[in-house]
Parts: sequence; structure tokens; C-alpha cells
Amino acid sequence: MAGNEAVFKTLIDIDSELSQIQDLDILLERVLSEARKVVNADAGTIYVKEILDDEGIKTEKLVMRYSQNDTIQNELPPGQKLIYSVFSLPINDKTISGYCALTQQLVNVRDAYNLPPDVPYSFGLNYDQISGYKTTSILAVPLKGTEGGLLGVIQIINAKDKDGNVVPFSQNDETIITHFAVNAIAALQKAQLTRTMILRMIKMAELRDPKETGTHVNRVAGYAAEIYDRWATRRGESEERRNKFKDNLRTASMLHDVGKVAISDTILKKPGKFTPEEYSIMQTHCVHGSALFGDSQSSLDSLSRDIAFTHHENWDGTGYPGKVDPVTGMPVDFDDTGKPIGKKGEEIPLAGRIVALADVYDALCSRRVYKEPWGEEDVLMEMRKMSGSKFDPELIEIFFEVLPGIKQIRQLYPEAD
Ligand code: C2E
Ligand code: SIN
Ligand code: SIN
Ligand code: FE
Ligand code: FE
Repeated sequence: MAGNEAVFKTLIDIDSELSQIQDLDILLERVLSEARKVVNADAGTIYVKEILDDEGIKTEKLVMRYSQNDTIQNELPPGQKLIYSVFSLPINDKTISGYCALTQQLVNVRDAYNLPPDVPYSFGLNYDQISGYKTTSILAVPLKGTEGGLLGVIQIINAKDKDGNVVPFSQNDETIITHFAVNAIAALQKAQLTRTMILRMIKMAELRDPKETGTHVNRVAGYAAEIYDRWATRRGESEERRNKFKDNLRTASMLHDVGKVAISDTILKKPGKFTPEEYSIMQTHCVHGSALFGDSQSSLDSLSRDIAFTHHENWDGTGYPGKVDPVTGMPVDFDDTGKPIGKKGEEIPLAGRIVALADVYDALCSRRVYKEPWGEEDVLMEMRKMSGSKFDPELIEIFFEVLPGIKQIRQLYPEAD
């Protein structure tokens, strides 16, 4: 059992790291990578149970959230993200993960291509056929909530021995992963609650079609995290700083427009172009938003304040609200005509510059009460055109570098129709 002592020490360390992550998406990705690490597995996928509403008929499904594969990842150029298609599985006994969700039992498959004759599920060859990867051993682990409900399933693939050979998952692996899952659940439930509370707050703030709002803010947050990650890699930021900032950024970005709570419905929901007066009222959402976070020093609050305050500033200084106090909204620096001077360049905090770009990209791609969605090519041309005027040119460069990842996030949080 000497080996296991070290394993349990590792589990405790992981537990304390996971419990510090606030954002649900960051956490899901991390839970998957840590699960693979504790049992030395090459690949895996994490699914979340969601209730999908298909014209009034509610069905529970497993929606794939993150997928990882070291073998395929290692064949990509350094820094490039593994792109996979997002899909969902019914909760029934036909697939391995579906069966795991249905029974809430761990499923250990020695060889996906030689299943025992008495199991109800079969192995879908699709993934292997598309990727050219060979799946052999599979461990599907249910993530059971403390109130009996199922949160999701972690499916890990291809255990490796110390020489790198693919082997079945052992009994010991089953024990370790079961303990791991208990810890992961606690962190996941907390993050899920935080996410729910944030989405409720946004629903209240924007007082508009909640279908649109929830996915818009999740996409903006996802793009922001993606862009930051590449920026931080370029700067050689330490992994610890990067993870912490990214976690805060993902959550804070969702709150960029909470200040819209102060804008009247007639303006917010106007089904057409604003008059100049309406537009200037709408512009106050930045100060209203930042004031909500007061002068709190917590890293999440101060980042949320920065983002709410500066996500409409432009790189060239032509944006709003400009140099005003973030809590009172009183100008602190005027031009000759008495208007606040815009912030420009690196006077705008990084997070504000990132969210500015993410927000406009998503707004252009989406339907709004006041506009139709633009076509993809037009959107990309517009983004490129605004490099150096509206947007930080380095961030636009990064945006185009990580575009495949950005498009993947659109798939993860599709617009409701
Ligand atoms: P939003 O809809 O989330 O849009 C965010 C930003 O994306 C906008 O900031 C703008 O920079 C950009 N954007 C959105 N649609 C277009 C477009 O068709 N063309 C161009 N060039 N840029 C676009 P902005 O303009 O400061 O607006 C802030 C918020 O004010 C918008 O958030 C939206 O909620 C509201 N809004 C702006 N203009 C109108 C309007 O004419 N009618 C209505 N009903 N709402 C508007
Ligand atoms: C699974 O079976 O759990 C994943 C989907 C498949 O490959 O069949
Ligand atoms: C613009 O706002 O740049 C014109 C395009 C539009 O409103 O759809
Ligand atoms: Fe805004
Ligand atoms: Fe927005």
C-alpha cells in the first residue's frame, strides 16, 4: 500500500486545487486532465447532464464539454489547440457513457473492440474513424451529486503502463478514480451553483430573452479566456498566474453588461436604431456596472469592475466612458469641450481590451433586436479592419491565431433559435 499513500497525498493536493477554481468551464477541463493524470490515461472526454427542451419535450442528455487526447495533441504544432466536434449522447444503455449515466455505476472496459457478449452497450467507432486514433481501454465514471442526481460522466481512455503501453484500467485505478470523483463533485457543485447564480443575475440585469443572454455571455467569456491564454503564453506568464487570471476572467467576462440593469426596458429592447440621446443613456451601463462592484479589493470583483467599466473603450481613445471615476461616474480628466477624455492603448486594462473584442465579435455574429446577424466573412473582415483603431492590434493578431478554438466555443454554446 506504500504506493497508494503517495496517490492519496496527490488526491488531497488535487482536491485543494480544484476547490479554488470558481468557473465551471475552467473546472470541467481541469477535472478531466487531473482524472487522466491520476490513472495515467492517454485521452478522455467529460460530459455534463443537461435537460434539453425539444419543442416542449424535455429529455436528459449527456452533452460533451471537453475532450483531451495526448497522442493526437502531441502531433500538433506546439501551442495549437485540439479541435473536436461537440456532440451529445442519450442517457440509455446503448453507449458506454450513456450506460454509466443510466446506472450511475462505473464501467470498466478492457477492450472496446472486444466487448463481453453480455453487455447491452456497444462501442461507437465514429471517434476512432474520424481521428485515426485507436481506443482500447475505457473507464467511464459517474459524477454523482450529493442529492442523488447525476452531474455528468468522465470517460477516460487508454491507460498506459510505465513503458507507455496501453493496458486495461486496474481495480486500483477504479478505487483511485472513485475517490477522485467524490472530491471533484464537491468542487463542481459549487461552481455549478456560482454559474447558476450569475446567469440569474444577468437575466435580471438584461431583462430580455434569457435564451439569448445565457449563451451570449458564455461565448464572450469563452472567447476571452481563449484569447488571454494565448496572450499569456506569448508573455511566458507562469502557469499559476495564468490559471488564476483565466479563472477570474472567465467569470468576470460573463458580467460585462450587468450595468444594463439600470437601463429602462424601452431603450434596452428598442427594436430599431437608437437616437443619439438613447445611445448616450445606454452608454451609462459601463459606469452602472462597475459601480455594482464598489471598491472591493477581491481579485474577482476588481476584474469584474475593470471589465464592466472599460469594455467599450477603443484602442485609439475614441471609446466610452473615458476617464471618469469607476464608482461615481464623475469625469476626472476633460477635453476642451468638457467631455471626459477617452482611455487609450494600454491605459485600458488588458481584460477590458480582450472583452471589447470578444463582445463585438459575438454581437456581429448574432441576431439582436436591432440587427440581423452578419455573415462570417463580413465579420472577420470588420474585425481585421478595426485593428489599431477600435482594437489592440496584438489582440486581433491573437484572435485570428485562435480562431479555430473560438469557433469551437460557438459550438459549445450555440445561439438559441
Ligand atoms: P451589443 O448588442 O452586445 O453590442 C456590443 C457592441 O458590438 C456594440 O457596442 C458595437 O460596438 C458592436 N456592434 C453591435 N452590432 C453592431 C453593428 O451592427 N455594427 C457595428 N459596427 N458594430 C456593432 P455599442 O455600439 O456601444 O452598443 C452597446 C450596446 O447598446 C449594445 O450591445 C446593445 O445592447 C445596445 N445598442 C447599441 N446600438 C443599439 C441600437 O441601435 N438599438 C438598440 N436597441 N440597442 C443598441
Ligand atoms: C461512449 O460509448 O461512451 C462514447 C460514445 C461512443 O464512442 O460510443
Ligand atoms: C453599422 O452599425 O456599422 C452598420 C451595419 C449595421 O448596423 O448592421
Ligand atoms: Fe456593453
Ligand atoms: Fe455584450
